[in-house]
Amino acid sequence: MNQDDMKKAVAEAALERIESGWVVGVGTGSTANYFIDALAGLKGKIDGAVASSNASAERLRGHGIEVLDLNSAGPLPIYVDGADEATRHLHLTKGGGGALTREKIVAAASKTFVCVIDSTKEAAYLGGYPLPVEVIPMARSHVARELAKLGGNPELRDGLYTDNGNVILDVHNLRIMNPVELESEIDHIAGVVTNGLFARRPADIMLIGSDTGVEEVTAG
Ligand code: 5RP
Repeated sequence: MNQDDMKKAVAEAALERIESGWVVGVGTGSTANYFIDALAGLKGKIDGAVASSNASAERLRGHGIEVLDLNSAGPLPIYVDGADEATRHLHLTKGGGGALTREKIVAAASKTFVCVIDSTKEAAYLGGYPLPVEVIPMARSHVARELAKLGGNPELRDGLYTDNGNVILDVHNLRIMNPVELESEIDHIAGVVTNGLFARRPADIMLIGSDTGVEEVTAG
């Protein structure tokens, strides 16, 4: 199985968790895209979807799935999304696609967060993948200096503006041993909108695709 096959397999496994009449929270990225494509087969049974990005909203609509506003549709029973890096404590780094803020909002407003990854994303601790931080543009340099004080090497993601009109700093070389504390610390820097650590609200279920099939990891 190549990486794409593994992504497709976990996306299809996540589909089994969807019940009739639900509004489904939908993430962003290539694994989430496989999930959206699979969800199209259930479009007559679900009541619609809430998207974590404009790109996912467009793909959902392309399949004829109604895209709803979180303010009227939430709280949601389920949110399905990928990750850039994940530990077996269900802590994640997300935001490789730049959608971290809306992803964190939809995850927060969902009862169950099902994270779908292929086995290449698994790590003993986070930090191997640069940590995305969404920043208000005028605060870019200030936030970069503060992130450097935490031991990271922030790099502006060139040319990218998020769906919220902000910029992203990707922080390299962090060895993240306390993700819950670091998530809070970074969020408290003035000018930070959010960061890509999902540790205070981790995934509830992780589906990991590998050559041997799909493994389920849950908290506790
Ligand atoms: C987007 C994300 C994605 O979940 C993450 O980048 C994983 O993407 P992919 O499924 O393409 O590997 O956080 O902001």
